Amino acid sequence: MLIAQLTDLHIKPAGRLAYRRVDTAACLARAVEAVNALDPAPDLVLLTGDLTDFGTEEEYGLLMELLRPLQAPLFPIPGNHDARAGMAGAFPAIARRAGPGPFLQYTVEDWPVRLVGLDTLVPGSGGGELCAERLGWLEARLGEQPDRPTVVFQHHPPFATGIGHMDRIGLAGAGGQAEVIRRNPQVERVLCGHVHRPIQARWAGTIASVAPSTAHQVALDLREEAPSAFVLEPPGFQLHRWDAGAGLLVSHTALMEGFDGPYPFFEDGKLID
Ligand SMILES: [Fe+2]
Ligand SMILES: [Fe+2]
Repeated sequence: MLIAQLTDLHIKPAGRLAYRRVDTAACLARAVEAVNALDPAPDLVLLTGDLTDFGTEEEYGLLMELLRPLQAPLFPIPGNHDARAGMAGAFPAIARRAGPGPFLQYTVEDWPVRLVGLDTLVPGSGGGELCAERLGWLEARLGEQPDRPTVVFQHHPPFATGIGHMDRIGLAGAGGQAEVIRRNPQVERVLCGHVHRPIQARWAGTIASVAPSTAHQVALDLREEAPSAFVLEPPGFQLHRWDAGAGLLVSHTALMEGFDGPYPFFEDGKLID
């Protein structure tokens, strides 16, 4: 089973650059092309939030146009830049899966690894939250199948990254989530977005990670008072490969720019490995 994770697409209205610099639509088009070219192809694609920049209908319209060529099924959850109503309109099957509650969160049962998507959105806030209701839902879902390998995916990471301005818009309720996850060792990963860089931490007895954005990255600046800034480092996405025989989920970061190669490993006219 192969899971592709795309995050922080930040789609703007057509023709508009994000922050006057980033053509997020062109970035997503390249990411879609790169995912479609993968061999083996991913079974599904997780979109871990900030799909649009302002959550407008126009942005969701362009987002869906850009995602249409993607061959694998899509499982999105909202980020702080999204709007639940706009997302539900763009992804009606996901809204049905989430049901009538106030949050866009749901499980996916169709593959060997079970997926649990969480909604950390707090409208009007950059930070996220897992309130008692959302944590209760998570605990109940994990309790249903305690022996099945499970991936939790959400926008806001539950750990502080050391990038001060991002940690200040972190996840309220992360302590409560840690307690739930600790009680559920079947959770192989907590896959997140929001921080626009590849980051990993051992957290609550599992691995919590952030994937790079398909567009701009957050500057790697670990000063407490680091100014909020982005850099145009190579964008990317992640691939999480479940090896059922070994019981291992292994994560790779893929960059989608055109680099030289691949070349064979030659030394003195002989092929080595
Ligand atoms: Fe973002
Ligand atoms: Fe975010």
